[in-house]
Amino acid sequence: MITTSSAITTAGRNRITTTFYHHGFTKPAAYFLIILLSYYLGYLSALSKNPSYNPHHHYTTTNITTDIDHYNFQTHCADPVPPELIRQTILNRIFNGSSPYQDFPQAHIKPLLRHKWIKGWGSTGLVFKNLINKVQPKTIIEIGTFLGASAIHMAELTHQLGLQTQILCIDDFRGWPGLPNRFQDIKMINGDTMLLYQFMQNVVSVNASESVVFLPFSTGWALEKLCEWGVFGDLIEIDAGHDFHSAWSDINRAYKLLRPGGILFGHDYFTVADNRGVRRAVNMFARVNGFRVKADGQHWVLNSI
Ligand SMILES: *[C@@H]1O[C@H](CO)[C@@H](O)[C@H](O)[C@H]1NC(C)=O
Ligand SMILES: *[C@@H]1O[C@H](CO)[C@@H](O)[C@H](O)[C@H]1NC(C)=O
Ligand SMILES: *[C@@H]1O[C@H](CO)[C@@H](O)[C@H](O)[C@H]1NC(C)=O
Repeated sequence: MITTSSAITTAGRNRITTTFYHHGFTKPAAYFLIILLSYYLGYLSALSKNPSYNPHHHYTTTNITTDIDHYNFQTHCADPVPPELIRQTILNRIFNGSSPYQDFPQAHIKPLLRHKWIKGWGSTGLVFKNLINKVQPKTIIEIGTFLGASAIHMAELTHQLGLQTQILCIDDFRGWPGLPNRFQDIKMINGDTMLLYQFMQNVVSVNASESVVFLPFSTGWALEKLCEWGVFGDLIEIDAGHDFHSAWSDINRAYKLLRPGGILFGHDYFTVADNRGVRRAVNMFARVNGFRVKADGQHWVLNSI
């Protein structure tokens, strides 16, 4: 019990013991009081250390001159895998070597899906065509995919140009809390939304399963693993969490996966979520790394200065 109450240091304890002792307490009684007292103070300090108990407490924990961890992201990735081996690398690393589209959809899943239900926001903006024309990407990494609307649009664009482009979609395919209340079309089975399967169904319905593969994990996990495996992208699109911290982390982690001459861009530069969290993260990244931010429709594009 004593070890859990950290409020009073050993030195402080000795001082208090001495004080109690001088006031006529026996040593065991004094120790007993100390234990009680420190336990109580420890309890108080534990409460006061957690500012989220107090909804009106505004606090800042950043000391810009010393807290540089916030800017530190791993910068060294494995040697690049050649583009033509990237799909198989993903299949080997995540799907035990075979295509996840094999035997899809299983009989028990099929009745839960719509043949094609592609919903998205700003998924066919001109920015995709502009950047694909410019970069002629062999590998595209999309962070935040939802039902695959923009991935499918990019697959169509690259196909039209005759490019052999592989598109890697990173998403945990959970959507967000409350998703099934908003979209009655998406089924929830034992707490699991059918988002991943509906995304796959959409890809299959446009015959794009050879050019679109997915990493069904959090953006943090997936981006760190791509770095570890040496999987880089010519074009990387960010459209996942729109709060500042999610966007900041995604941008920094994605940047190191960019091939020389590649372009990093993302959705919702103008959205007001989290007090324009995406815009603040993009602008800060540009400032720290010496880029210029250009808007293209709803998207932001990072250009060199
Ligand atoms: C920030 O860190 C520096 C160096 O340790 C220190 O001198 C300064 O008092 C700190 N500022 C705040 C606001 O904590
Ligand atoms: C993974 O693939 C190997 C070789 O094809 C096979 O023997 C093994 O059963 C597979 N594991 C799973 C979990 O499917
Ligand atoms: C589907 O795509 C594959 C290549 O990915 C192609 O060989 C095939 O002809 C396409 N099928 C249709 C019906 O478009």
